[in-house]
Amino acid sequence: MMPFYLNLHPNVILLASIALGIIIYRSIRRSWTRRQFAKAHGCKPIARSLSKDPFLGLDLLPGTFRAIRENRILVRSLEFFKTHGNTFTVRELHVSAIVTIEPENIKTVLSLKFQDFCIAHRLKCMKPLLGEGIFDTDGDHWAASRALIRPSFNRDQVADLRSLESIFQDFFSLLPRDGETVVDLKDLFFRYTIDSATEFLFGQSVGTLKKSEAELGFADAFHYAQKAILMRGMLGPLEYFFPDRRAEECNCICRDFVQQFVDEAVNAVETRKAEGEKADPSSTRPKRIFSHELAAQTSDKTRILDELMNVLLAGRDTTASLLTNMFFMLAKNPAIWDKLRREVAFLEGRLPTYEELCNMKYVHCCMNESLRLHPVVPRNDRQAVRDTVLPLGGGKDGLSPIFVPKGTLVLYNLYAMHRRKDIYGPDADEFRPERWEDGKLMPRWGFLPFNGGPRICIGQRYALTEAGYVLVRMVQEFRSLVSRDPNEWEETRGLTVTSHNGAKVSLIPA
Ligand code: HEM
Ligand SMILES: *[C@@H]1O[C@H](CO)[C@@H](O)[C@H](O)[C@H]1NC(C)=O
Repeated sequence: MMPFYLNLHPNVILLASIALGIIIYRSIRRSWTRRQFAKAHGCKPIARSLSKDPFLGLDLLPGTFRAIRENRILVRSLEFFKTHGNTFTVRELHVSAIVTIEPENIKTVLSLKFQDFCIAHRLKCMKPLLGEGIFDTDGDHWAASRALIRPSFNRDQVADLRSLESIFQDFFSLLPRDGETVVDLKDLFFRYTIDSATEFLFGQSVGTLKKSEAELGFADAFHYAQKAILMRGMLGPLEYFFPDRRAEECNCICRDFVQQFVDEAVNAVETRKAEGEKADPSSTRPKRIFSHELAAQTSDKTRILDELMNVLLAGRDTTASLLTNMFFMLAKNPAIWDKLRREVAFLEGRLPTYEELCNMKYVHCCMNESLRLHPVVPRNDRQAVRDTVLPLGGGKDGLSPIFVPKGTLVLYNLYAMHRRKDIYGPDADEFRPERWEDGKLMPRWGFLPFNGGPRICIGQRYALTEAGYVLVRMVQEFRSLVSRDPNEWEETRGLTVTSHNGAKVSLIPA
């Protein structure tokens, strides 16, 4: 039998050879220009790779699966930086990445060379729930989202303390006060933040703290839909083999639920416009509602819906996780609680004003310290959209620049960076709010709980007000917080990192 290619017309063979020639020529030229580019920037190769198998990184997988099962992904990553330095490469299945905990590299990715990186890989798993908005798009779409949302966060005081107090009262009414009963604050914090986020975004709280567990329709659907995002992210292209009906259902429940508020906001804005001319300018200004502010700027209902979903996702679990992690640590450190009590004592039991809350130094030290030791977004990544360079990680000493080819993922690990002893000192692994006290600790890009650069968290001030408020009110109401969990803090994986065992405490009233 003749080999099949001898049957082909000579022109076909000629064309195929030319095509092959072009491909080979291009790839040689690309690797040549890349080498020139890398040389021109003084790049040196990254000395260490985590994976011994350079193709699929299969040698790492068993350890990864074990670490996931044992909730030790973050703890395990600390080991890697100890053995491989601050910047190394890694390969796991289809992903090839550079991992770094150098503040200068992270600053370059997020700020100096912002245009060289994207989050396009995020959209695919988030879009079914979020649509396209500020949190999951790049480029012009993202810039338009940011411009749309920005004004609502730009004022001095974003969070309204009166609504926070009313939600705090719902929260407070569910706390046991006998000093004996054990309560896990985690579940209550997650309800507190969804109640306050929906109040802020839609002008109307979903009121989960007022309901029994059984009636949490929207909140439950949202919870499941978020877990599904993580699953889709892990499965990657395999997603098609594991369709998740429940996730599709939950996405619909969430989007339909929020759609009502979009309709309501667009109607309200239209009515207000129609009545605008005859409105009395001296009448009191209505409460600010995020969805109405969006509707005042665009009548595109899908856009409003998508942005609301994006901000809800970005803002809810993050703050609840901060509170859970922080209360876990506070319960283990009675001396810190006592010191907080001394800080709020001047209020003599009345509610703090916004300025007073902002000025409570030690409250802010505690929040920073929690975000340092247990950053709720502990790892993050960006993908290079063109060939580019990072300043550190090359050569044996890791002090030369490194070349980052287009398509490479750059992973940065805040959990490990926040524990660098050369930045935070020998007690970097300890929870010690005092390290922030004298204002001398200024890690800048070495402390990044809210990210940095053009995509810095837009809700930072809102989050710190929301979390600080609960902390101050709890400190006012309770003489002490007793830990009912003998274990150390342990991570749990979600989109954010929360104490695996929640925050089990009992409370002794003041
Ligand atoms: C302790 C609480 C919070 C933490 C630790 C936190 C952290 C972060 C981080 C790390 C990012 C960057 C994500 C990335 O680009 O990869 C981010 C973005 C964002 N956050 Fe927060 N966040 C918190 C609370 C909030 C709240 C309460 C809101 C809104 C009410 C909010 C709204 C956003 C939005 C809209 C973005 C996307 C910004 C953009 O891409 O332009 N966050 N946040
Ligand atoms: C907490 O960290 C932020 C960001 O680095 C800093 O600006 C702020 O001053 C810190 N707060 C305290 C009380 O040290």
